[in-house]
Order: sequence, then structure tokens, then C-alpha cells
Amino acid sequence: MCMDAVRAALGMLYAVERLNKWELKDFDTESRPDYLKSGLKSLGRQHQQYGVKHEHYPLIRDVLLKTIEEQLGEAYTSEVKTAWTSAINLIIEVMDVA
Ligand code: HEM
Repeated sequence: MCMDAVRAALGMLYAVERLNKWELKDFDTESRPDYLKSGLKSLGRQHQQYGVKHEHYPLIRDVLLKTIEEQLGEAYTSEVKTAWTSAINLIIEVMDVA
């Protein structure tokens, strides 16, 4: 579970990083968010094959948020918490219905 949390965090950071780049230079290209969505759907289908169930996602979300909190220390403000919670929820929302 611990290694998976690290993998999940890396996957998520990668997705957010790509989304950030798109926001900076290609956000007006409507296909970009769709592209991210289809990537996350496919990641969600892979997870179904691993046996991941709907109820596992909130557990990973809480572990990820706790890890981010521990790493950021004082920089983990309520705005940062809200932003990360929204980002993770968005990712899970797409992965979980794949
Ligand atoms: C925010 C949600 C999550 C993200 C972004 C995420 C991301 C990833 C990524 C990028 C990989 C590696 C690519 C792959 O093998 O498909 C992976 C693998 C994996 N994930 Fe997740 N994951 C999430 C949630 C979960 C949950 C809830 C579980 C179950 C508790 C889980 C279990 C696994 C397993 C078993 C693997 C394969 C590990 C291996 O091949 O050694 N993941 N995940």
C-alpha cells in the first residue's frame, strides 16, 4: 500500500504537471483536457484489472493528502489543501467510472 501511494502520487503529479503545461500554452485547445481524461480513464481501467474497487479510492486520496501535508509543512495552507483535494477528486472521479 505504501509503495502504491508513492506510485499514485507520482502518477498524479505527472497528470497535474501535464495539465499545468496545457493551461500555460494550450488551454484553448479543447482536445487537451479530453486527452487527459482519456488517459485517466485508461489508467482507471488498468486499476480495475488490478482489482481496485470504488471504496479504495478515498483511502488513497487520504494517504496522498497526508503525504502532501507532511512534505509541504507550513506551506500546506487551507488553499493548498483545497486545491489538492479538488485535483485528486477530479482524477479519481474520472478513473473510478472507467
Ligand atoms: C489517485 C488515484 C490513483 C492514481 C493517480 C494511481 C496511479 C497509478 C499509476 C500511474 C500506476 C502505474 C501504472 C500502472 O501500472 O497502471 C499505478 C499502479 C498501481 N496502482 Fe494506482 N493509482 C491510484 C489509485 C490506486 C488505488 C486506490 C489502488 C488500490 C488500493 C491502486 C493500486 C495500484 C496497483 C495494484 C498498481 C500496480 C502496481 C504494480 O504493477 O506493481 N491505485 N497507479
